[in-house]
Amino acid sequence: MRILQKNIDEIKSRIDIVDVISDFINLKKSGQAYKALSPFTDEKTPSFFVVPSKGIYKCFSSGKGGDAISFIMEYDGLSYTEALKYLAGKYGIEIEEREITEEDIKAQNERESLFIILKYATDYFISNLRNSDEGKSVGLTYFKNRGLTEEIIEKFELGYSLEAWDDLYKAAIKQGFGKDIIEKAGLIIKKEEKVYDRFRGRVIFPIYNQTGKVIAFGARTLKKDTKQPKYVNSPETEIYHKSNVLYGVHMAKGPIRKADNCFLVEGYTDVISLHQVGIENVVSSSGTSLTEEQIRLVSRYSENITVLFDGDPAGIKASLRGIDMLLAGGQNVKAVVLPEGHDPDSYSKELGGYEFRKYLEENAHDFITFKINLFVNEAKGDPVKKAATIRDIVESISQIPDPIKRTVYIKESSVLLDIDESVLMTELNKIILKARRKSTAAAGPPIIPIMADTVIGQKLEEDVSDRLNAVLRRKEREIIRSLVRYGYKEVADNVYLYQYLFDELGDVKFFTPVYEEIYNMFKNGLSKDEEMEAGYFLEHGSEQVKSEIVDLITDKYALSNKWRDKYNIWVPREEEILSSKSYTDIERLNYAYIKKLIRKNLTELKNAGSKDDQQKYQIIHMELKKTEKKIASVLGIVISG
Ligand code: CTP
Ligand code: MN
Repeated sequence: MRILQKNIDEIKSRIDIVDVISDFINLKKSGQAYKALSPFTDEKTPSFFVVPSKGIYKCFSSGKGGDAISFIMEYDGLSYTEALKYLAGKYGIEIEEREITEEDIKAQNERESLFIILKYATDYFISNLRNSDEGKSVGLTYFKNRGLTEEIIEKFELGYSLEAWDDLYKAAIKQGFGKDIIEKAGLIIKKEEKVYDRFRGRVIFPIYNQTGKVIAFGARTLKKDTKQPKYVNSPETEIYHKSNVLYGVHMAKGPIRKADNCFLVEGYTDVISLHQVGIENVVSSSGTSLTEEQIRLVSRYSENITVLFDGDPAGIKASLRGIDMLLAGGQNVKAVVLPEGHDPDSYSKELGGYEFRKYLEENAHDFITFKINLFVNEAKGDPVKKAATIRDIVESISQIPDPIKRTVYIKESSVLLDIDESVLMTELNKIILKARRKSTAAAGPPIIPIMADTVIGQKLEEDVSDRLNAVLRRKEREIIRSLVRYGYKEVADNVYLYQYLFDELGDVKFFTPVYEEIYNMFKNGLSKDEEMEAGYFLEHGSEQVKSEIVDLITDKYALSNKWRDKYNIWVPREEEILSSKSYTDIERLNYAYIKKLIRKNLTELKNAGSKDDQQKYQIIHMELKKTEKKIASVLGIVISG
């Protein structure tokens, strides 16, 4: 069984090594690279480096190094395929797995051909713009009249399609491309027996994937008052899925990260104009409402997004839904409204770069405030409208994952809407509870931890593989770290984290002796009514416990937290997600245990003498695999047969 090449390509094109590794360790920027304490050794000064421009990491203390995939393999003890699956899960890519067939190879070749022909078409359109009389007098003149510079026209590889029936088609055939592939690339339209070019007499905007390859075209008409649509775009093809694409993202990646903000605009020309005034952290949704895919794409580079709205109230309202999705994704959303009749393209040109930037800075409002202001005037004096407005706004607020932020917004809304805070709070809680009930029902009952001595009555020994042991040790450490550090934090009403962990873990025996010791000390201390905080361990613990506690309560093994630098409130952030974090930590530990048990059981199976024994181990194997699969699906890793 293999993952299809197209899935692998997609996964690879999405990988952003800083983003991948940040999920596990806390990276600090250091020049062009990022550094951290090595997760593979016990070092005190950072010698673990990530170089995003090359897509690699290097750990000088252990000598390990490689790309994002090999990092996942190393860190989590996964196979290549499992690592790919993990990444697919992370980026929401659906993967197919099957025996590789002739057909798959053909499909792969076809994808490559599509890239090639689109590159050919791009050059062809550029050549029209530069070299043909029609291109120069119509297309180039148009761009120049719109104030685009030579440099920008080149940068975006703008082109022109001639006013003719099948000019591109003929050229491509002559070049040796088959009719079939030209059609699959979306370049021609077949009607009855006739074939003609899809793009005719239009200026061309190539559309790129994240890695900067052309995957489609947008083509704008130059004729005024015509029945033709303003833009003709490529259809969906094997390599172009409109809902996954953001125009401009291949150029914006670096700038977004650098500015730690992304501007979102509507059209091709908006992106281009912003570049021309020096703003490069900008992408466009190409006129459609945002999709989850697109949001995920941006959130890889920054948690902050600023939406630029044309100054037209109807248009703004139409795009509000998409913005709620941004909130749900945890992004910090701001909005800027441009003066009536302007879009980012026209307004940036009118003001010029300096003034335009200033305008953006001065007029960016946080999204909820912006939304309230948008509705509040028209709702005045109309109780029915007002009720609807309130519900709408509270609905938006309920999307925000961060409870502290939600509270702040409720306070603010209460003032702006002139409504009692408690009324809004009640409404908010209703919505949240309803949503939560829905999602827990969908997720099914929580999985009961399967630990060392339970279920199949086997003991884990120091065997199997060092790699799995290292993984297991890390997962255990994460749980003990939460226990020691946040044991007395409330994760639900009147439930402390330590209660939750003890309920879930029960009498588990930790594989790592020092964690076993801390776990039991915590339990025993509680039964004697001791305050089980770090100080207790430092006073009463063994030497080993003491030194481990020091490591655990300093930031050495801190979970990476991308928000940290933004808010300067590192600890509270981790605290807020304690309940969900602990839940996944436990499942991660389960997963590591299960993998170890599977290995061990397979050894037993190999050495089994009697038929009975063999059968027993086979049954155990199946049970273990089933559980592995279940945990994996909770963790978002899909495991095959
Ligand atoms: N769009 C489209 N098809 C249309 C109209 C619009 O695909 N018939 C998409 C294009 O991606 C376009 C975006 O929606 O860039 C925004 O539309 P609009 O504001 O009308 O176009 P602009 O990019 O602003 O183009 P121009 O400034 O040349 O009018
Ligand atoms: Mn425009």
